Amino acid sequence: MTKRVGIIISGGGSNMIALVNEMQRSKMAVPSVVLSNSPDALGLKKAHDLGVTTAVVDHRSYGKDRGAFENALHTELVKAQVDVVCLAGFMRILSADFIALWDCKILNIHPSLLPDYKGLNTHARVLSSGDQYHGCSVHLVTAALDDGPILGQAKLTVAKEDTAQSLAARVLPLEHQLYPRVLARFLAGDLSRLDLSL
Ligand code: GRF
Repeated sequence: MTKRVGIIISGGGSNMIALVNEMQRSKMAVPSVVLSNSPDALGLKKAHDLGVTTAVVDHRSYGKDRGAFENALHTELVKAQVDVVCLAGFMRILSADFIALWDCKILNIHPSLLPDYKGLNTHARVLSSGDQYHGCSVHLVTAALDDGPILGQAKLTVAKEDTAQSLAARVLPLEHQLYPRVLARFLAGDLSRLDLSL
């Protein structure tokens, strides 16, 4: 049966668009809902324009009650009959309890060559370490932040003139190529690692 994918975003949603476009083109899965923790996420309108159902679970309405926020997220995913969840620029940390409900069914994209540079400000950190390579990773989500088995990576060579901004702009198109390809393999039951040289 065709799998149903829920995508969770917080911002612009360019990875979400890449995933939806590829699902709509290849029919590898149905993008069943795009969820955001922020009503202001620009990606919501883009998802709507692509014909995908959207929903907002505003984390601010739940104050410090992360459990209640996550229950609401879970409810939306169940309502949309989601089989697989793709985090795509989702800027909240999910609890171990939530992740256990979706064990081995949540993917995330992270702008670094994991396991290096978990967390934020990856581009600036790569530059200050003077690394030769940078890129992005798609991994299965486990309870530890930006951890979990790596399903794919795409890599670039850092140029002398790169800034954190230019690196972000160079890595993002790699993300757009990597994430849909890893999702397709994952949906086909292939958990082996994909290394893209672009
Ligand atoms: C991407 O770099 C993603 O890896 C990171 O946040 C950015 C989100 O971009 N977590 P977008 O919302 O998909 O355009």
